[in-house]
Amino acid sequence: MNLVVMGAQWGDEGKGKLVDFLAEQARLVVRYSGGANAGHTIVKGDETYKVHLVPSGILYDDTTVVLGTGMVIDPSALFAELETLTEQGVNWKGRVLVSDRAHLVLPAYRELDRKMDEERAQPLGTTGRGIGIAYSLKAARDGVRIADLERPEVLEKLDDESRSFLEPYMEQLKPMVVDLVEFMAQADSKEHVLFEGAQGALLDLDQGTYPYVSSGYSAAAGASLGGGIGPRRIDRIIGVFKAYSTRVGNGPFPTEFGEGDSAELEHLVRELGREYGVTTGRARRCGYLDLVALKYIVHANGIDSLALTHLDVYDSQQEVRACIAYETPDGVLDSFPASATLLEQCRPVTKALPGWNTSLADAKSFEDLPAEATDYIRFVEEFVGAPVEIVSVGYRRDQTILRTDPWMQS
Ligand code: GDP
Ligand code: IMO
Ligand code: MG
Repeated sequence: MNLVVMGAQWGDEGKGKLVDFLAEQARLVVRYSGGANAGHTIVKGDETYKVHLVPSGILYDDTTVVLGTGMVIDPSALFAELETLTEQGVNWKGRVLVSDRAHLVLPAYRELDRKMDEERAQPLGTTGRGIGIAYSLKAARDGVRIADLERPEVLEKLDDESRSFLEPYMEQLKPMVVDLVEFMAQADSKEHVLFEGAQGALLDLDQGTYPYVSSGYSAAAGASLGGGIGPRRIDRIIGVFKAYSTRVGNGPFPTEFGEGDSAELEHLVRELGREYGVTTGRARRCGYLDLVALKYIVHANGIDSLALTHLDVYDSQQEVRACIAYETPDGVLDSFPASATLLEQCRPVTKALPGWNTSLADAKSFEDLPAEATDYIRFVEEFVGAPVEIVSVGYRRDQTILRTDPWMQS
C-alpha cells in the first residue's frame, strides 16, 4: 500500500511524529519534497531526534528511507545529520538512498538565498538554506543533480568552489544513489510504502499563500513526481493538522493571535506546543485553527483522512475557537482566496466550542477522550468533510490514538 502523509497547514504539524509512528509498519519511507528547510522532530523514549533531510522512518532498523526526486539536497547538511544520527546510536548505513534525479544545493545558493530575501521589499523570511535558489535553477534548467556527480563533463562546467565542495561527498554518496522510478517499479506492491511530505500545503508553490511559500511541492501530488510513482499508485492521503495554527516566517495569517486574551493564549500555545523552529530556532507565529484554509487543503489534495495533533495543548482551556469564515472589506468570505494581499485583509469569524479542561495526555482510545474533545473533532470533520482518523495528544509515540488503521484502509 502507498500512503502519503502531508502537512495540511503551514508546516510543523507534527509530520515527523506521525511518520515515525506509521513507519513501524512500512518497509520503505520516501521523502518527496523540500530540503534542509524542513525540521522534523521524533521522540523515542528519552531521546529526541531532529531530522531535516533524512526521512522520519530512519529509527526502524529494517526500514529503508529514500531522499526522493522532489528534494533539493545539500550534501554537507545531509552528512552532518547522518553523523548526528550515528552519535545518537542510529545505524543508518545501507538504509539511506538518494534519488539520482534529486537536485543538489550548493554553498553559493545559501548565500544568494539570504541576500535575495534581505533585498526583497517584503522579505519572505526564508530559512536561508538555499531552497528557493535550487528550485529556481531546476525550473530554469540550470540545476545540478545527483546523477551529475558521475558525469565529469557536467562537473567541469561548475566553478572551482562548487567542485571542491562536492568532491568529499562523491564517494560517500555513490552507494546511496538509486534510480527511484526503477526502484519503485520493482518494489513489492504488497509492502507498505510511506511517502513523507515536508512543509505544508499552505507553503506549496501552487497551493500555498503565494508568494509567501516555499518552492517545492509539499502537496499530495508532489508524492507522485517527487516519489517516483504514477499518481494512480497513491492509495491513501493523510493530512496532518494541529488543533491551532502556526506559521514561521512572513506572510498572511488571518487567524494569528493578537492583543489581549489571545496574546496570553499565544504564550501558552508556544510554550506547551514547543513552537520554536527546529531549523532556525525562530519563535513560530501562532493562531486559531483555520477551518476555511483546512477545507481548501482537503479539497485541493483529495485528502482521505486527517491526523489531528497537539490536541493536548488546549487541555486547560474553557473554550476552544476555530475560524469558520473571513470578514473582508467586501463582506464575508467562506472560501480561501488566491491573493495574499486579500488574505492579509481577512479577519477571522470564529466559533467557540466548550473546552474539556482536563488532561488528555493519557488517553489511549477515542472513547477515553472527554465529550467536549470528541464534539470538537466531529465539528472539524463535518466542516471540512474528511474524517479525523488519528489523534495525537502528546509528542511521545504512545500518545497517538488510532480510530482506524490507515494501513488497513483502501
Ligand atoms: P513537523 O515539521 O511537522 O515534523 O513538526 P515539528 O517537529 O517541526 O514540530 C512539531 C513539534 O510538536 C515537535 O516538537 C513535536 O515533538 C511536537 N508534537 C508532535 N505532536 C504533538 C502533540 O500531539 N502534542 C504536543 N504537545 N506536541 C507534539
Ligand atoms: P517542516 O517540514 C515551517 C517556511 C519558511 C519561510 C518559507 C520559505 O518542518 O514542516 P524557504 O527557506 O523554504 O524558502 O522558506 O517557508 N518553511 C517552513 N515553515 N515548516 C517547514 O518545514 C518549513 N519549510 C519552510 O519559514 O516562511
Ligand atoms: Mg518542522
